[in-house]
Amino acid sequence: MSAVSKDAKRMTTHVLKRMKEKGEKISMLTAYDYSMARIIDEAGIDVILVGDSASNVMAGHETTLPITLDQMIYHASSVIRGIKKSLVVVDLPFGTYQGDSKMALKSAIRIMKESGAHAVKLEGGKKVIDSIKRILSAGVPVMGHLGLTPQSIYKFGTYTVRAKMEEEAQELLDDAKLLEKTGCFGVVLEKIPALLAAQVTESIGIPTIGIGAGNKTDGQVLVSHDLFGITKDFNPRFLRRYADLFNTMKEAVSHYIDDVKSQDFPNESEQY
Ligand code: KIV
Repeated sequence: MSAVSKDAKRMTTHVLKRMKEKGEKISMLTAYDYSMARIIDEAGIDVILVGDSASNVMAGHETTLPITLDQMIYHASSVIRGIKKSLVVVDLPFGTYQGDSKMALKSAIRIMKESGAHAVKLEGGKKVIDSIKRILSAGVPVMGHLGLTPQSIYKFGTYTVRAKMEEEAQELLDDAKLLEKTGCFGVVLEKIPALLAAQVTESIGIPTIGIGAGNKTDGQVLVSHDLFGITKDFNPRFLRRYADLFNTMKEAVSHYIDDVKSQDFPNESEQY
C-alpha cells in the first residue's frame, strides 16, 4: 500500500477521502500559534485543527464558550504562517453559526478571508444543517463534530461519554449520514463508545476522526497541549501523553533562575 498522505504535496480534503478509501489512518492535532504549528507541520501531521479548545489551553477559560471569532481568526492566521503541508481546519466559535445560517456564512467567510485557513469545523448535526448548507454553498469545506460537543456543555451538564443509549446512538448515526449527504468532508467523533464509532465509520464514505472514540475511526485527533504534557490536570482515559513538557519547561525555568541569581548567566561567551 503506497502512502497517499506522503505522496501529496499539500493535504486536501480529497486526499483525506482517498486515505479513508485506502485504509490509511489520518493524523490530526490542534495548534493555535505559529511556533507550535511549525513543529507539528514539520513532523508531518495531516490536519491541524485550530480548535476552540484555545479558549481552555491558551486563555485559561473553563469552557470553550467565551472565545470570539476575532480571537479564532488571530490564532488561525498565526498557524497558517507556520505551515507548509497540513490542511488547516478552524473551529467556528460558539454563537457564530447556531440558529442563523446567514451569520454562519459570514463567520466562515471571515475565517477563510482573514486567516487563509482551508476549512471550518462546527458542532452538531441536524440542528445546524442549514448553516452547514449555506457555508458549503459558498465553496467553504466543512467538517462536522458529533458526540461530546463542548459548546453544548451546559446542556449536557458533564463531559462524560455520549451516545451510550440506543436512542442517542441512533441519532448520532443519522446525523453522521446527514453530514455526509449534505457535503461535509469529514466528521470528528468525540467521546463515544468505540463500537458506535466503528459503526459510524463503516456507514459513511467521509473520514471520521476520533477523540476518545476507539481505534476504528479513520483518524485520531488530540489537543496538542495534552499530547505534549503541557496541561497537567486533565487526565481522561483516552489521553496518551507523549512528553512531560510541563515539568521539562518548569525545570528549565528553575535552572535559568538559579543561573541568573548566581550570575552564572550570562557568561563571557554570552556577552558582547
Ligand atoms: O477544539 C478542539 O480542540 C476540538 C477537538 C477536541 C476535536 O474540537
